[in-house]
Amino acid sequence: MENKEMAKLERASFGSRLGVILATAGSAVGLGNVWRFPYMTGENGGAVFIIIYVGCVLFLGIPCMVSEFIVGRHGQSNTARAFSKMSGGGPWSLIGYMGVLTGFLITGYYAVVAGWCLQYIWASLIGHMRGTPEYFQTYFAELSSDPVKPVLWTVIILGMTYLIIEHGVRNGIEKASKMMMPTLFILLLIIVGASCMLPNATKGIEFMFKPDLTKINSNVFLAALGQSFYSMSIAMGCLCTYASYFSKQTNLTMSAVQIGIIDSMVAILAGLMIFPAAFSVGVSPDSGPSLIFITLPNVFQQAFASIPVLGYVISLLFFVLLSLAALTSLMSLHEVSTAFFQEELMITRKKAALVVTITTAVIGAFCSLSLGAVGDSMTFFGKSLFDWFDFITGQIFLPIVGFLTCIFIGWFVPHKVVHDEFTNWGTLRGRFFHFYIFLVKYICPLAILFIFLHQLGLLK
Ligand code: PHE
Repeated sequence: MENKEMAKLERASFGSRLGVILATAGSAVGLGNVWRFPYMTGENGGAVFIIIYVGCVLFLGIPCMVSEFIVGRHGQSNTARAFSKMSGGGPWSLIGYMGVLTGFLITGYYAVVAGWCLQYIWASLIGHMRGTPEYFQTYFAELSSDPVKPVLWTVIILGMTYLIIEHGVRNGIEKASKMMMPTLFILLLIIVGASCMLPNATKGIEFMFKPDLTKINSNVFLAALGQSFYSMSIAMGCLCTYASYFSKQTNLTMSAVQIGIIDSMVAILAGLMIFPAAFSVGVSPDSGPSLIFITLPNVFQQAFASIPVLGYVISLLFFVLLSLAALTSLMSLHEVSTAFFQEELMITRKKAALVVTITTAVIGAFCSLSLGAVGDSMTFFGKSLFDWFDFITGQIFLPIVGFLTCIFIGWFVPHKVVHDEFTNWGTLRGRFFHFYIFLVKYICPLAILFIFLHQLGLLK
């Protein structure tokens, strides 16, 4: 009993401003930055897409992020309880529960992909990332449909996440982020440098940055919007949960702006790492898992063929970078459910983290097996279980939770309460408050509604 009382009094918190920024940016910077953003830029008009994307981050992503921060810090508890506290119970609490569920469901399948990254580190280390383009294709096809290996890697990466999470917010998440994020930036810069020095690298840079106005249409806008939300970890409970560990002094708007900038910069740098190398060897890049697990290992090998050691090192560093990016995102996803179970079931952090690790590992294992190891038995309506998780979380739950969060903050919560959190109880000027309220009240919900209808094919 005494322990429980103590736990209630002393809520965990991040120890420093840098910790807040690096941990939350760690959640945002993930696979999405590397495997989707660069390609979408190239396909959707280059520099123009980047400008639209940055506009989406500034005027839609950041206000949504601030809204989740407000709910989380106000509630000082897991996402479900935070929404319930802010609304005084009632149906609005459901948004919080849905956020937790989204975070929980995504953890398992995100861990599968993170697990592949670990396998590729291993493969790079023992020199298996060498061969013909077909070799890389077969390698990935065999790995993803293997019944044992990817499941094992999923369990390993979730085990690593567990070890960090069980150490708590300050000694686990914050410490790990403070080590992993700077390492990630350094690796990124090294690979960008190597890639941009290759012959014909400028072609790749042009592909990314050359404005092509003919490609602009409403789809480009929706693509940028969807990508900015996913990339900023919006509507998965992560931002809300982390914000419950922010201090009363944390400037929510400033933090959201800084995190948005870091996330966008990493996405652009990821493009500068991928396109110059791809164009220098004349391979046309694509997106999704095939970009990072098939095209890129081949590109790095060919691009640095004259200095094989460099090819070996770059491929290794690339997968270490990718694993770090995935791990910091996975930590935030894991924390959503851990905080939920810990507080709702009144159990210790360790136990809660263990429950999450085991259950998400089971989900992950099923997702992984659905990719071929068990034939078609886990394919429903033409989509594997893996794709279903991706679809339901990313395309259904994310827009619904995002939309309802904006409606909740913009229309339901008294503006005085929102203002207090926005200005840290009047200690900040809060110059943008009215603009922020205007965005979450009207613009963000409408924009989210458009992506949602578009994704469902109801809006062309
Ligand atoms: N933002 C992460 C990425 O870009 C994905 C993610 C979404 C992570 C939601 C956590 C929560 O890959």
